[in-house]
Amino acid sequence: MRIFSGIRPTGGLHIGNYLGAIKQWIALQETNECVFCIVDLHAITTPYEPKELQKNILETTAVYLAAGINPEKSIIFVQSDVKEHAELAWLLGTICPMGELSRMTQFKDKSRQHKDYVNAGLFTYPVLMAADILLYRSKAVPVGKDQEQHVELARTIAKKFNQKFGKIFPEPETITPKVGAKIMSLTDPKRKMSKSDDPKSYISLFDSPEAITKKIMSATTDSGKDITYNVTKKPGISNLLTIYSLLTDRPVEDIQREFHKKSYADFKKSLAKILIDYLEPFRRKQVELQTRDVYIKEMLNKGASRAKTIAETTMKEVREKMGLS
Ligand code: AMP
Ligand code: TRP
Repeated sequence: MRIFSGIRPTGGLHIGNYLGAIKQWIALQETNECVFCIVDLHAITTPYEPKELQKNILETTAVYLAAGINPEKSIIFVQSDVKEHAELAWLLGTICPMGELSRMTQFKDKSRQHKDYVNAGLFTYPVLMAADILLYRSKAVPVGKDQEQHVELARTIAKKFNQKFGKIFPEPETITPKVGAKIMSLTDPKRKMSKSDDPKSYISLFDSPEAITKKIMSATTDSGKDITYNVTKKPGISNLLTIYSLLTDRPVEDIQREFHKKSYADFKKSLAKILIDYLEPFRRKQVELQTRDVYIKEMLNKGASRAKTIAETTMKEVREKMGLS
């Protein structure tokens, strides 16, 4: 099965991105044909620093590699290196209803967040995302919960295209993890962990051991003393239990039992240690990869040329079906 997913190179990937998306990719690449993209054209729809973009692209690629994505197996590339993404997005824009785009919660959130940066690209963002997915005729898209609505729109667009011009696209399905599809903020566990928030609210994959300890020890917990999973009554502790469980591959009940009658501080100390150990290879690989820009760029070039072969075949058919050639 062909699988596609992407992450915006906006700097500072956090454990929410990892647990919600990247961790699934590692398992999927074993038995599927995976295409993983660094979506720079999406990154520029919100305020950004042009001078930082190339650095962020290399850093995001380093995260993919440090997490265990294998460039021999999976295709890893930068979106703007394959021009067909932008071309297909334009074509799909002509069949995507405006009404559907106005319903998108990410557009509403982001336009509230950046009031003086509400551009047309932010509005048509999901059309470009549909183009990313459909260009590779992908059947499944592993993402966190916040992206389900966008994948749903990609399905709608695929269906419309197939009906209007002839069937060429599969209707892509979302793959979200059963647990961890929405990791919450450490400072406000009612909101999702997000890299555009205060750094205290998330653990970056490259945080130092000291920073991890500090952030976990000061993470918002709930009233009461028990370490029990209850999302409505104890959103803070429940979020930390979810993270604990995902990093140790142990069921939440088991962890609750271990910390029965122990304090929040004991639990947090243990979680901080687990995070420090878990993220150690990320820190190490990042340092190692910092000196290997040439290798990363070469790998991205190879990835782009593999991606292009698939993209060109799809576009040839799309152009014919739409009467453009
Ligand atoms: P982004 O950084 O918005 O490009 O997101 C990259 C991937 O991480 C997408 O698949 C998101 O759904 C996922 N993601 C982002 N934030 C979270 C979170 N707090 N919990 C789980 N998944 C997330
Ligand atoms: N919109 C996604 C996000 O913010 C990133 C993305 C762009 C993506 N194109 C994609 C994810 C295609 C999956 C498939 O996280």
